[in-house]
Amino acid sequence: MKCDVLTLFPEIITAYLNESILKRARAANLLEVNIHNIRDFTSDPHRSVDDYPFGGGAGMVLKPEPLFSAMDFLEKDGEPRRVILLTPQGRPFHQALAEEYAGETRRFVFICGRYEGVDERVKTLVDDEISIGDYVMTGGELAALVIMDAVTRLVPGALGDERSVEDESFSWGIFDYPHYTRPREFRGLHVPPVLVSGDHKEIAYWRRKQALIKTLELRPDLVEKMELTDIDRKILSEITKKAGEDA
Ligand code: ADE
Repeated sequence: MKCDVLTLFPEIITAYLNESILKRARAANLLEVNIHNIRDFTSDPHRSVDDYPFGGGAGMVLKPEPLFSAMDFLEKDGEPRRVILLTPQGRPFHQALAEEYAGETRRFVFICGRYEGVDERVKTLVDDEISIGDYVMTGGELAALVIMDAVTRLVPGALGDERSVEDESFSWGIFDYPHYTRPREFRGLHVPPVLVSGDHKEIAYWRRKQALIKTLELRPDLVEKMELTDIDRKILSEITKKAGEDA
């Protein structure tokens, strides 16, 4: 994944990218990120990036000039780019989009908005307007990091163990199953015996069942949307039968 990030707060981005798996991915050239301060593309003596909204109202709006200048600068190398504007008024980001982005060959540009938003004309530069959830943050930096993180871990080699990606939550379309490690008993809490039984078929069945139970409890909408296998149907009928008996 290759990205340019346009932000007024480069340190927010740098801090996160310099830790753990993303740091390793950058060192291995699986993730390339160039961070650009939007303020460096201003041309007025005050280096101002925002201004009052036409028509009145609270808050400030990011001016178009610095963002257009930044894009002119980036486009000089002629590389094709996919431009993402981070905004609460965007299409929701989810795992399927992360997978699509992981297969993208173009460079990404993440435009991190601040204040009340960006001048509407900036959207003529943008391919996707993306939101990471139905809440309003003070800027798009965290959203850009969320996307870079979720996409990078899908890039082959980034995690070290590719099974972690295949096995986990949302590659199934539902939640992940519960995980346990040593010790087997901790403060009276025991590891489910099936996990130490050595019976891999039983373990797989138990995990799928636990994942379905948890998802049904907290996100039944995900179960409704998923394509059920025969085993899923069997597990679901067991779960509903048990719920009927418990009621
Ligand atoms: N900027 C502020 N809030 C946001 C959100 N929920 N998603 C993306 N960008 C944002």
